[in-house]
Amino acid sequence: MRTQVAIVGAGPAGLLLAHLLDRAGVESVIVETRSRVYVEARIRAGILERSTVDLLREVGLGERLDREGDQHRGIHLHWPGERHHLDFVDLVGRGVTVYGQTEVTKDLGRARDAAGQQVVYEVADTALHDLDTEHPFVTYTTDGRSERLDAEVVVGCDGSFGPSRAAVPNPVTWERTYPYSWLGILADVAPSTDELIYAWHPDGFALHSMRSATVSRLYLQVPHSTDVADWSDDRIWSALDARLGLDGWTLRPGPVTEKSVLPMRSFVQQPMRHGRLFLAGDAAHIVPPTGAKGLNLAVADVALLAPALAALLRHKDSGPADAYSDVALRRVWRCTHFSWWMTTMLHATGDQFDAQLQRSQLQWVASSTAGATGLAENYAGLPIGF
Ligand code: PHB
Repeated sequence: MRTQVAIVGAGPAGLLLAHLLDRAGVESVIVETRSRVYVEARIRAGILERSTVDLLREVGLGERLDREGDQHRGIHLHWPGERHHLDFVDLVGRGVTVYGQTEVTKDLGRARDAAGQQVVYEVADTALHDLDTEHPFVTYTTDGRSERLDAEVVVGCDGSFGPSRAAVPNPVTWERTYPYSWLGILADVAPSTDELIYAWHPDGFALHSMRSATVSRLYLQVPHSTDVADWSDDRIWSALDARLGLDGWTLRPGPVTEKSVLPMRSFVQQPMRHGRLFLAGDAAHIVPPTGAKGLNLAVADVALLAPALAALLRHKDSGPADAYSDVALRRVWRCTHFSWWMTTMLHATGDQFDAQLQRSQLQWVASSTAGATGLAENYAGLPIGF
């Protein structure tokens, strides 16, 4: 098979890139190790920045998002005995949209189906070749057959465990593994809050998020080695109640339909390019979920990369492609910092000095316009290209 851009990975980064390239007159083929059902069911955060929503609308992906997405003006910051609403719209003129990553992925999949996009699911043994020439190619097996996909450019949208990241020779990497994980649940119960609650508590962080009027998404900070089997539904709801509790407010428990433990990690690999290989999304960077930045960062990467590849392949202009890594990394580091900052402000470390600093910082963020504006500007998102 031959195409202009071989995309490795059919998550939101790969699918959106294919969509943007198609609109710019560039052809692509996507290969993906997982099945479509798996990719579309993979649960991730659900907070879309304004620039993400604007882009999705602009490229014809806004219809269901506008109908089903929930507009939030801000978030609640909570610690024992206190809850403060930060109104991002008042502070920085924009809020966020609550719409699950699974839904974005499904919308993208349907749009690519309608356009006749080639996506080869359930491939194995994916390998990238001749990346420092103008004729790179990808090999893989499907149904026991070996296949070769020739291209002019390869884009790795295959996450931090895929082969693309590892195909960049001698990268510089930065990594921080946080000494705790999140236990996440989905529950068939109406959210007990209008907007997300981020809670600091001496037992550990808790987050009340949501997916719809009838489905809640909640998280608890837990130790690294946590086994979900040790967390009965009752134990989860009583820990959530203890950490999120407030006089005059009740947390409605409900049937838990999904339970999983998520590691917390920051990771950046630089550069996001090697020859004719470009990296986008989690293939180049991982953020802990506290700032809900993962999907938004992937969208920002491909929003930059698609026009850069169109300039390279259609007009032989390599300027934007040459600038891609440096430009993308500015935003990557901003979001890496913000995600680290939110994480370290909100998670219990067991250290009493840390706890005092966290309480002081939360108090400042919640009560000073300068402090609140910093959080709001980053959470609601900086413009693409920042
Ligand atoms: C989620 O809804 O899954 C979610 C929301 C906000 C976060 C992380 C996860 O910061």
